[in-house]
Amino acid sequence: MCGIVGFAGTEQAAPILLDGLKHLEYRGYDSAGVAVYSPSSGLQVKKAKGRLEVLKGLTDDGRNMEGTIGIGHTRWATHGEPNDVNSHPHLSQDNKIAVVHNGIIENYVEIKEFLLSKGVCFQSETDTEVVAQLLAFYYRQDGDLMMSVYRVLHRIEGAYALGILCADTPCSFIAARKDAPLLLGYGKGCNFIASDVTAIIKHTREVSFMEDGEVALVTSDSITVFDALGRKIDKEHSFVEWDISAAEKGGYAHFMFKEIMEQPDAVRKTVAPRIKEDRIVFDELKLDEAYIRDMKKIFIVACGSSYHVGMVGKYNLERLIRIPVDVMLASEFRYADPLVDEGTLVIVISQSGETLDSMAALRKARDLGARILSIVNVVGSSIARESDHVLYTWAGPEIAVATTKAYSTQLVLLDMLGIWLADICGRISIEEYSSLLEELKRLPEKMEMILKNTEDIQYFASRYFNHDSVFYIGRNLDYALGLESSLKLKEISYVHSEAYASGELKHGTISLIENGTLVIALSTFLPLFDKELSNIIEVKSRGADVIALTTCDMAEELKKTVHNVLCIPRTSLIFQPSLGIIPMQLFAYYVALQRGCDIDKPRNLAKSVTVE
Ligand code: G6P
Repeated sequence: MCGIVGFAGTEQAAPILLDGLKHLEYRGYDSAGVAVYSPSSGLQVKKAKGRLEVLKGLTDDGRNMEGTIGIGHTRWATHGEPNDVNSHPHLSQDNKIAVVHNGIIENYVEIKEFLLSKGVCFQSETDTEVVAQLLAFYYRQDGDLMMSVYRVLHRIEGAYALGILCADTPCSFIAARKDAPLLLGYGKGCNFIASDVTAIIKHTREVSFMEDGEVALVTSDSITVFDALGRKIDKEHSFVEWDISAAEKGGYAHFMFKEIMEQPDAVRKTVAPRIKEDRIVFDELKLDEAYIRDMKKIFIVACGSSYHVGMVGKYNLERLIRIPVDVMLASEFRYADPLVDEGTLVIVISQSGETLDSMAALRKARDLGARILSIVNVVGSSIARESDHVLYTWAGPEIAVATTKAYSTQLVLLDMLGIWLADICGRISIEEYSSLLEELKRLPEKMEMILKNTEDIQYFASRYFNHDSVFYIGRNLDYALGLESSLKLKEISYVHSEAYASGELKHGTISLIENGTLVIALSTFLPLFDKELSNIIEVKSRGADVIALTTCDMAEELKKTVHNVLCIPRTSLIFQPSLGIIPMQLFAYYVALQRGCDIDKPRNLAKSVTVE
């Protein structure tokens, strides 16, 4: 979850590293640091607790650090509290080697004890420092840095993306990867490493993705990559399609708001290229039809909001394909004994394509014989590369920690997949297929209608922002929508909130409803409109303040019971959550704004969770 960047070139390195770190702050932002080398000043390290701004102040935006080669890091603390000492880069005791690391070294205690017994002194409480110290220890024995790096990699266990800068070999730095993302960037007269392309897109769009076990030697004019056995290998280069403007705020106050507004376009980009002559076409999927017809079960695994997409998917895919669909949190799946075999299609959903639990679940499912289809936003990410089949959500870079446009594109893509599979299995009529396709095409325009008219949402947010507990209730797809709506609110506004299936209220939660409790009643799943209305009456009669969400054609009906009604355009039943989520994202956004929260970087969270 930390962010790494490295640069070797002819320009001053520190300002470039700091700028790269700015684009990686979404990965972690409790401290940051850089190490650069110059012949006159040697290896210099500056690091500071807090946001990147603190480090920028300390280094005059990097200008007071000489040198044209360096590595940088922005941290999301795992081992050791966020403070100056625990920040990366970590230095070896002899001050020769600086290391930045993303991941967790699982056997660091054992290595630390070994090194302590050899007289090595440690500064920090981190797992990462053992890498710097062990490397220096081996290097003193070997006198060959690369050989020592391999010895370290054989000794450490866990996940890592590493950047290593050594004062004895100052024209190059070394990168290594296992189970944590790291890419190589090829510039003109300069080269890079980064956790994510956003950090270097300003300088180059030509990248290659490091694989597990690979080690790279980066200089200003070359990148040489070696496999786990030290053999030189050729890497395939990829070209990143989008440009820097996609990763910048472009006049919006927050990335989250920008990304909410980008949803119609993102959905358009995800859907449009996959509709040809009024048919859904997945050119990229090489799933044979016989396999699909024999498929016994679908299992969806994911984390966070991607899991909530899976919850919607369970209802929709079962409705469409008529085979069992299970959905499980990846962190549970990986340690459970799930009923998965060759007849199971496992769908892994992930924006980043790097979430460690989702990755582990994928590997487990593969070992159990399942086919893996992933729905991923980041091209070339680990989950995409390890899947049998990949569908990309073309949402573009998502920077705000709380996902919006990635969620929306995942949702629509999963629905499309459901329709496509149902058609192959012969479980959908021609009429239903065409009407779903028509609605699918109109979704972006309907999303735009919601985004053009946000006054009511702002009004409700300003009226209720100081509530300290909010309940979301709904049935069927509205329950799944409630899970995501509630997560949005708690993530960015720190308001306690929970989502309940409305029918469950009376089994416990209704005891929490008292005068003035805010309940957001989701009533867009129209087959159960009347049932939901009964639940609304139940909570109202116990004193709840209710905001209800329904389709515009049902708004008048609902207003007979509820004063505060938000409405969204009507669409096909299965797509309704794609519209319903937008007012809920905006509500969470405006509540967080009123509460003065740091919307794009909420406390304790990170966007890409590459630790367990
Ligand atoms: C983090 C993010 C969430 C995201 C979850 C899963 O918690 O803050 O927005 O839903 O990780 O991430 P993934 O990249 O696998 O979708």
